[in-house]
Amino acid sequence: MVASIIKVKDLTKNYDETKAVRGISFTVKKGEVFSMVGPNGAGKTTTVEICEGIRKPTSGIIRLFGKEFSKRSKEIRERIGVLPQEYRSFERLTVKETLKYYSSFYKRKRNIDEIISLLDLEDKKDDLYMNLSGGLKQRVGVGMALVNDPELVFLDEPTTGLDPRARRGVWNAIMSLKEEGKTIFLTTHYMEEAEYLADRVAIVHKGRIVGQGSLRELISDHGGHYNVVMHGYDTSRIDILGEEASVDSEQNVSLPVNDPEEISQILSKVMQNGVKFESIEVRRANLEEVFMNLTGTTIEEGDAA
Ligand SMILES: Nc1ncnc2c1ncn2[C@@H]1O[C@H](COP(=O)(O)OP(=O)(O)O)[C@@H](O)[C@H]1O
Ligand SMILES: [Mg+2]
Repeated sequence: MVASIIKVKDLTKNYDETKAVRGISFTVKKGEVFSMVGPNGAGKTTTVEICEGIRKPTSGIIRLFGKEFSKRSKEIRERIGVLPQEYRSFERLTVKETLKYYSSFYKRKRNIDEIISLLDLEDKKDDLYMNLSGGLKQRVGVGMALVNDPELVFLDEPTTGLDPRARRGVWNAIMSLKEEGKTIFLTTHYMEEAEYLADRVAIVHKGRIVGQGSLRELISDHGGHYNVVMHGYDTSRIDILGEEASVDSEQNVSLPVNDPEEISQILSKVMQNGVKFESIEVRRANLEEVFMNLTGTTIEEGDAA
């Protein structure tokens, strides 16, 4: 049996009238990357900060390392690392000074040079925080979460607002932690991030977990199977493909199919009707579709709500 590092049962949190978290349960197992995915306002930060012992739940049971936070808060804090959402650090400290400073709060310490090397920050270690790019700041933030050599690391939206290349750099840093066997609780509203990094995913929507499991489980349970996408298809002739066909924002026509054998039938229908297209692509369903099927919205629409 793999030990559970976090065990949350029936967690709720109200802020006056706002029901931010409405009864969620999950476990995080030793050595895995567990990711909560959901739009802004879904309740991710509230859940994470309750697990970190920073906020108090309205009701529910939270255990870390088999212990209740209220009883062992000091001991538990020594064993966890935290990267808060939209954190800032001291502008005029260098990377190395920053890590040294945060390290000074803990009894347990990890060698700072080792952290710098793990996160691929050697070239930047004497640079001032204020001169770093967004992606580098986030990597320093991951480093701050490692100064006490924690067994469990919380990363709350570590790549929000970064460009794809900077995001990759942060992903590499997280992969390095994963390879070291750290348990990681990651929140994100980027589906690709959870797909790339997470062993298990919980999809949160309006304070509830609407689906959880490995990517494979989620896709087979809630994703449908394949998507056929045709580029350059005459969208005025979409009717011949049936009701399930739709046009996306780039004017591609897409159509869900359960079985790859249906693809040849689709193609012959298109040819019989003399409709032309430039190219065709068959994709396995991804987390985006799982999210759509479970919530009836895209994650961006969820953000706006
Ligand atoms: N300290 C707070 N006081 C009042 N409302 C809050 C507070 N923190 C979060 N909320 C509200 O709780 C809901 C969930 O927020 P949050 O946990 O930050 O979600 P997420 O991290 O998924 O964006 C939102 O409606 C938010 O406005
Ligand atoms: Mg948040």
